[in-house]
This record gives sequence, structure tokens and C-alpha cells, in this order.
Amino acid sequence: MVAAHRGRASTGPEAVCNDPWALRLAGPEGEALSRRWDEHSPSMVLWMGLRTRYLDDCVVRALDRGVRQVVVLGAGLDTRAARLARDGARFFEVDQPASQADKRERLSRFDGYPLDAATFVPCDFERDDFVRLLEEAGLDRRAPTCFVWEGVIYYLTEEATRSTLGRLASEFDPRSLLVFDYLNTRMAKASPRLREEDRAMKGIIEELGEPMQFGIDDPTPLMLECGYRFLRTVSFDELALQYTGTYARERFFRFQAVALASASEELTLW
Ligand SMILES: C[S@@+](CC[C@H](N)C(=O)[O-])C[C@H]1O[C@@H](n2cnc3c(N)ncnc32)[C@H](O)[C@@H]1O
Repeated sequence: MVAAHRGRASTGPEAVCNDPWALRLAGPEGEALSRRWDEHSPSMVLWMGLRTRYLDDCVVRALDRGVRQVVVLGAGLDTRAARLARDGARFFEVDQPASQADKRERLSRFDGYPLDAATFVPCDFERDDFVRLLEEAGLDRRAPTCFVWEGVIYYLTEEATRSTLGRLASEFDPRSLLVFDYLNTRMAKASPRLREEDRAMKGIIEELGEPMQFGIDDPTPLMLECGYRFLRTVSFDELALQYTGTYARERFFRFQAVALASASEELTLW
């Protein structure tokens, strides 16, 4: 579903991102799931495109600044390893074994995708030691890494999220960067104040078997407690303004945002 949203956001004159693999990876089933959202949240495709674009730009910027390791946490059908490949840079994809097996099977069905662009690291954040698994897969913890954690943390428990954030801040080179998106607690916890449209969206996600469980209203205290010093957050509306030059009050997608964080890298110029 997410890959289909992203693929749709990559097509046509209004494209905000560029993932040429996404629609094929999603297949007709993914596209049908994506289209189910059009009725409840017509801005979903735009948001997914903006999120992908901004995270892509963060990775490109990190690579431009000399970072040579990119880790995609909860990678799903992410194709950054193929799209943003750079000489000397390694991409690692960390995900549940079942999600990775499904992705490999999909990729094997079409020609042209560089299957060796990423090192696959099977891992369940709730149970496994992702730091050890990454090291065993060849990641150098003494070199700066760009971590991408897209569309994942609200599906994890607060405990698993905090523990992962803490380890990302303390067990890797402090110049490393982390970029992730989060939901507010109103959405994650289905507050009675949730808008009708947002409640419908939450219902679709839960029906698909991946309930949202963790929300963040202000990431600042959380990031401080987890060992981060530098933090920037950006809203959907700000990304829409940046990449499309538009603002539309009726887009109703105000429960999600993106955060960029580092333990020691000043983000002033990001
Ligand atoms: C909505 S998908 C997002 C995938 C991808 N990052 C993207 O934006 O297209 C959520 C991903 O989180 C992964 N995930 C959820 N819970 C996880 C866990 N406990 N451990 C590892 N990965 C998990 C799923 O396998 C899935 O790939």
C-alpha cells in the first residue's frame, strides 16, 4: 500500500518524488489498497510522496557530506539502495524476515533491479539485537551512518521505540543522522477528538493487521531522554509548501510529521 502511494506520487506532471520501482513492487493488490484511501484522505498520496522526497533529500545530503553508510530500518518495499546508490556507499535494509522474503520474491519477478544494492539484515525490533545484526552484516559503528526510519515507529511499542532510539544515539558514531516520521497521540491512540476522516484512515490500517500503538506530540523530551542533542521537525504542510509551493487548509493531514536528529551533528544548515 505504501509503495503504491509512493509510486502514484512518482507519476504524472505533479510528481513530487521519483521511485520508478514502487508501482511494480506494489502490484495490483497494493494499488487497490492505495486507491481505497482516496475517498477518506485524498492527500495521502501527496503526503507519502513528500515524505519519501524529503527523506531522499536527507540521504542525498548525508552522502554529499561524506557519509558512506545508510541503514533503512523497517525497509518494507523501500528502493533507496537502488535509487540513491553512490560509489563507496553501503546500504543496509533491516526488516522483519517475512517482509524481506516477500520483497525479495517481488524483486525477483522483474528485470533490472540491482538486487545486490542493499545488504539485507533480517531483524524484529521487538526481539532481536539490531546493533549486533548490523555489525555482523558489515556495518562499521565508528563511521557516521544515515539511518532512515520511515513509516515504522507508530507500529512499535513505546518501549521498543525508546530502546531503539537510545541505541541509535549511543552505540553508533555520534555524527550519525536519523530521519523518521511520527504520528501524534490523538491518531495513535484514537482519541475521541480524532476527526472522522482520520478515524476512517486508522480503521483501514488496523483492518490490514498492523495497529498503530505509539504516538508523539512533542519529540523534544523523548529525543533528549534517548541521548539526542540536535533535532529538527517538519510538518506535512511545510513539506507541501517546500516541494509544491502550495498550501491547502482542507488537506487534513496534520497528525504526522518528520524529524531529523543527531547526537553530535549540528543541523543548523540542514
Ligand atoms: C508501513 S511499512 C513501511 C515500510 C517502508 N519503510 C516504507 O516507508 O515504505 C512498515 C514496516 O515496518 C516493519 N516493521 C514493523 N514492525 C517491525 C518490527 N517489530 N521489527 C522490524 N520491522 C518491523 C514492517 O516489516 C514493514 O516493512
